[in-house]
Amino acid sequence: MSDSGTTSTVSPFSGTENPAVSVTVENLSKSFGDFVVLKDISFQVQPGEIFVLMGPSGSGKSVLLKHLVGLELPSSGRVLIDKYDASHEETREKIRLALVFQAGALFNSLSVYDNLALYLREHRLADEAGINEKVMRALQILSLENAARKSPSELSGGMKKRVAIARALVMEPQLMLYDEPTSELDPVMGATISEIIATLKDQYRVTSIVVSHDRDLALNIADRVGILMGGKLVHLGPPSELRQPKDPVIADFLQPVIDLKNPRFKKLET
Ligand SMILES: Nc1ncnc2c1ncn2[C@@H]1O[C@H](COP(=O)(O)OP(=O)(O)OP(=O)(O)O)[C@@H](O)[C@H]1O
Ligand SMILES: [Mg+2]
Repeated sequence: MSDSGTTSTVSPFSGTENPAVSVTVENLSKSFGDFVVLKDISFQVQPGEIFVLMGPSGSGKSVLLKHLVGLELPSSGRVLIDKYDASHEETREKIRLALVFQAGALFNSLSVYDNLALYLREHRLADEAGINEKVMRALQILSLENAARKSPSELSGGMKKRVAIARALVMEPQLMLYDEPTSELDPVMGATISEIIATLKDQYRVTSIVVSHDRDLALNIADRVGILMGGKLVHLGPPSELRQPKDPVIADFLQPVIDLKNPRFKKLET
């Protein structure tokens, strides 16, 4: 972990500096019909911080992330990125943010290189020589140079996750959002991805929000951790507090004990 009081991000391509951004979630509630997913959530992420959001499956982590990129709109409350409302289209013109999707969302019909180049081409952000420079630099940062001409369908799960991160990096984001970046990976590849996220934050000072079930990731790279349960933010604090959580529900979520005498599956709702 490094100093989170930094105030500017550094471009991985040109070295130029941009202001690092804060995120403010203010009394956010979200319902789908009668189904309440998020209940009055409030927290703030400081510029340059790694904030890890944990919580059981279905607790609303992905829905919360989608509010940051305007893919979901609040039922009440609001989300601000710096002073800009995340639900406004213009915010995405003012702040560069990138979401690394839970399932990668890569195009199998395009090569890895073209997946990375797509955003730059669509937004006409550089000529082909400039695009080549940025794409190759992003691939190099993620040790993916040899995968440039492959289709994502030819890659392992760990490589796909790295390609999804490289594609986000090409956008030179001030804010990186990761949805389950280490899920479905072996522990070593999970640790590798954690190291990548921490390195991107340290070298480029990108504000990062990481949604994850991965306790090791949270303990090792988070500046702060929030835990969502049943749509509520039930815990917010430094990762050290997760080593021996006082709340038995949080302790059971982080380090469940397998109990064959009183198995959980008997208590599952149908
Ligand atoms: N567009 C939608 N319409 C209706 N319900 C939705 C919609 N999106 C999400 N939900 C519901 O909201 C709840 C939270 O979903 P979400 O995807 O945020 O969970 P999650 O915490 O990311 O879970 P996981 O860890 O399994 O990814 C789930 O019950 C889900 O079915
Ligand atoms: Mg999810």
